[in-house]
Amino acid sequence: MPPSAEPAAGATGANPSAPAPTLLEPMARAATTFTCSACGHEAPKWHGRCLGCGEWNTLVEEQRVTSGRTAGPAGRAARPVRLADVRAIQVARLTTGIAELDRVLGGGLVPGSLVLLGGSPGIGKSTLTSMALGNLAGTGRRTLYVSGEESAAQIKLRAERLAGAALEVPVLAETDLDTVLATLDAERPEVCVVDSVQTLHAADLTGAAGSVGQVREVADRITRLAKAREMAVLLVGHVTKEGALAGPRVLEHLVDCVLQFEGERERTYRTLRALKNRFGSTSEAGVFEMRQGGLVEVQDASARFVGEATRAPGSVVLAAMEGSRPLLVEVQALVSPSELVPPRRVANGIDRNRLALVLAVLARHAGVGAGTADVFVNVAGGVRVDEPGADLAVALAVASAARGVVAGAGERPIACFGEIGLTGELRSVAHPERRLAEAAKFGLTPAIAPAGAGGQATEAPTLRAALKAALGATPRSEAARAKAA
Ligand code: TYD
Ligand code: MG
Repeated sequence: MPPSAEPAAGATGANPSAPAPTLLEPMARAATTFTCSACGHEAPKWHGRCLGCGEWNTLVEEQRVTSGRTAGPAGRAARPVRLADVRAIQVARLTTGIAELDRVLGGGLVPGSLVLLGGSPGIGKSTLTSMALGNLAGTGRRTLYVSGEESAAQIKLRAERLAGAALEVPVLAETDLDTVLATLDAERPEVCVVDSVQTLHAADLTGAAGSVGQVREVADRITRLAKAREMAVLLVGHVTKEGALAGPRVLEHLVDCVLQFEGERERTYRTLRALKNRFGSTSEAGVFEMRQGGLVEVQDASARFVGEATRAPGSVVLAAMEGSRPLLVEVQALVSPSELVPPRRVANGIDRNRLALVLAVLARHAGVGAGTADVFVNVAGGVRVDEPGADLAVALAVASAARGVVAGAGERPIACFGEIGLTGELRSVAHPERRLAEAAKFGLTPAIAPAGAGGQATEAPTLRAALKAALGATPRSEAARAKAA
């Protein structure tokens, strides 16, 4: 035994009669840690504020058994393999029959993978997963739907409304983790849905269902079983008001793929995005519409939005990017006199701060001041566009509304994109060619774009130039006209 393995009992002041831990027999002890439910940061003692993320009152107590071993390996050395010698196996993906979902997943579900599907209540997570399982069951796959939220009767009610073979899916309404794991092991489904991870409860762990420790344990044990049995598991998770996956972010590290289902409950359109994907790109997005018979894929969303666009002052079409796909959406603005101080600035589907910036640049560099008027900006259909390329569409919609002039001269709405800089310049954004091609597909040419966009675009180096192209020459102000007369 190397000398360092023999602790100097006298020197450390430990009880000399206690057996000294050796390298091979670590002493196990239970430790209390405090884990932040927002970011997963661990602290040895309780703090009112998490040192990791700065959130208040998020630390919860957890018991954890740690080994007393301080140094030295306990396992047997394994032989690393040169990557070139690794035999790659082509996994056959399971197609869910929902093209938009398959695309976001990177071409279908990978056997043995874990997918976390997040979204606020009522967005359609249960509907989407029920439909996917129904399609899989319809093609002869073994499936299982585990629900800790709804009874079997409630799940049936929903399945009856859905098209496909949703009624063929076996269900288990259960919240006890051990029962769920035992059932999974016995049934060996190829694809399983757990709705939701926050409702399952591990009996041997303290804490209520949905607490950090519980959710981590639930996900961890399901992951191990899923990997061992080659099951693809879709874990449904709720998100908080702020849009973060409720409670532990630790889950995001554990799973292979994190999908986010977004949109407003009262609106019809919903987007599905991949935030993390070990088996595909994270730039894909799928668009769905909630109908009576469940979620319907909107494969040509652009056609829908362009068709609905109005030819009224305050409306322009934004050539946006949803992941790697171009999407045309209508951006509308209303500018109306207000008695309120300060006036209202309402942004739906775009960032509020971005609207404030666009209004400031419009006033300072393009002579369009909203002043004391209320300004409302809305992306039609409940779509969210969180990209700087939306700036120009917001600016043109506001200017068009403020002046009461229809943007563009032709029959069709005008399309545009571009980021607005603080000095009034128009900056280029990603994928101008795909945006222009999409606009051209619907006859929205020439689109107004930043310099260098090429193709069928009216290139505008500045916001002022873009305004001129969309709304015509700036009319002389009242004061200037009075002076001339
Ligand atoms: P749900 O999938 O239960 O949402 P989540 O699991 O994310 O909480 O359902 C979302 C909403 O969709 C619900 O309020 C009812 C509505 N809905 C339809 O409009 N049509 C349908 O066919 C179904 C099944 C649900
Ligand atoms: Mg649900």
